[in-house]
Amino acid sequence: MKKNIIIFDTTLRDGEQSPGVSLNMEEKLQIGRALEKMGVDVIEAGFPVASPGDFEGVKRLSDELQGLQVAALARANKKDIDTAWEAIKGGANPRIHTFIATSDIHLRAKLRKSRDEVLEIAREAVKYASQYTSNIEFSAEDASRSDLDYLCKVFEAVIDAGATTVNFPDTVGYAIPWDFARMIKYVMENTPNIDKAVLSVHCHNDLGLATANVLAAVSSGARQVECTINGIGERAGNTAMEEVVMAIKTRRDLLPYEVSINTRHITSTSRLVSQLTGMPVQPNKAIVGANAFAHESGIHQDGVLKDRQTYEIMNPEDVGLDSGQLVLGKHSGRHAIKSKLEELGYELKPEEIDKVFNSFKALCDKKKEVFPEDLAAIVAEEVWRIPDKFSLSYLHVAGGSGIRPTATVAIEIDGEEHATAQMGAGPIDAAFRAVASLTKTKSKLLRFQVSSITGGTDALGDVSVRLEENGLVVTGQGADPDIITASVKAYLNALNRLERMKANPKLTKERATL
Ligand code: KIV
Ligand code: ZN
Repeated sequence: MKKNIIIFDTTLRDGEQSPGVSLNMEEKLQIGRALEKMGVDVIEAGFPVASPGDFEGVKRLSDELQGLQVAALARANKKDIDTAWEAIKGGANPRIHTFIATSDIHLRAKLRKSRDEVLEIAREAVKYASQYTSNIEFSAEDASRSDLDYLCKVFEAVIDAGATTVNFPDTVGYAIPWDFARMIKYVMENTPNIDKAVLSVHCHNDLGLATANVLAAVSSGARQVECTINGIGERAGNTAMEEVVMAIKTRRDLLPYEVSINTRHITSTSRLVSQLTGMPVQPNKAIVGANAFAHESGIHQDGVLKDRQTYEIMNPEDVGLDSGQLVLGKHSGRHAIKSKLEELGYELKPEEIDKVFNSFKALCDKKKEVFPEDLAAIVAEEVWRIPDKFSLSYLHVAGGSGIRPTATVAIEIDGEEHATAQMGAGPIDAAFRAVASLTKTKSKLLRFQVSSITGGTDALGDVSVRLEENGLVVTGQGADPDIITASVKAYLNALNRLERMKANPKLTKERATL
């Protein structure tokens, strides 16, 4: 019989700790619903004690998503645990996830406590949490740099105190796969009561080895994998869920495990997370990058046309990419759009389909063929973009050789329209200056990246920006056939995120100390 691997998604907690990411309540709910639809077993919805916003987010997710377990993070102290429980107690099978570091470097430099003291704190925290629920996870932060015999003692103590999952994080992404497999085997063999708990792993990607480490750990007995969509998370990120799931599905010969994920939702969920977090997916990213299934060389294209298996180890359809059977254009009706959306994994309400259909028709006036990627960009713009403080109402630019580039911009700020005109080095510079003057923001542009969503000069332009203001870093994205409009949309998207962060300084501060 195949063994089950529990998929624990932490996109909304570790993923939301990515620099520049700050999700509002509606965005968290949308991601939570998408994860539930995918079949994720457990989601970590946030860190409730961090701020009232985090608390409310975890509570709403826990109350609403009854088809999965919702976990809340808590440091190993009573206040964190009480607050976590308060947030999740309405859930179907809520989980308290408490943690403390176990490596000597963390004990010495951060906690200033002895090994015995930390063991007692961990035991007490789990015992305290067990008054609320038997679904308790304990994480030994920086486990991969901890003394393994000490770690086994800590795990033994917390399992005795009631932990039903013990998590082994590679917090700093330091592990190497075969050595990580050895460590997991050691813990399995030297923690006397490990059969009473699930051993979990949580790997960061600092050396680009997160997925490899997770798979190595699974082969040594780990039965829960902590991961995020698109691999987002602290620093270089976390293990990408889509990579682990597709590795297990593709290499059944070496990985005889079952996961509950419906892989056809992978692409749409990846796009949703990218859009709402403002974190673009690199084109060569495994499974979900724009080039992941693209064959450029003539030899490869020829081979794929003769037999897909020559160069493809996975079917694009299995991750929710288009089968290419239905071409969309100006003669496509609402029904065709609806079935294409379903085929791509989007389940939209009738009024949302109407919005997408109207934008699709408008795009058909500008573009002969509309590709699934265009449809995904429309869904992102029309359905997922949440109305914020600033929104674009009008843009006109004048540029070319021999004239001073000028932009006239009108923006709605909290429902009221404001307009101005500015000159700049180029039309985008002029438009950005106008936006900065209207929004009275003084952010510094750290990155400005333009790509096209599909081929052809009529393709939608996809712009991603990264801004910094007073130490706060945010990203934003925008798509439009007009590259300057796409740029302004991306800029406003980032400014909206900045506003949200400014309104919640406590959240930013707490995160920095986690
Ligand atoms: O990376 C880490 O150690 C964590 C823990 C809180 C599980 O995110
Ligand atoms: Zn982490």
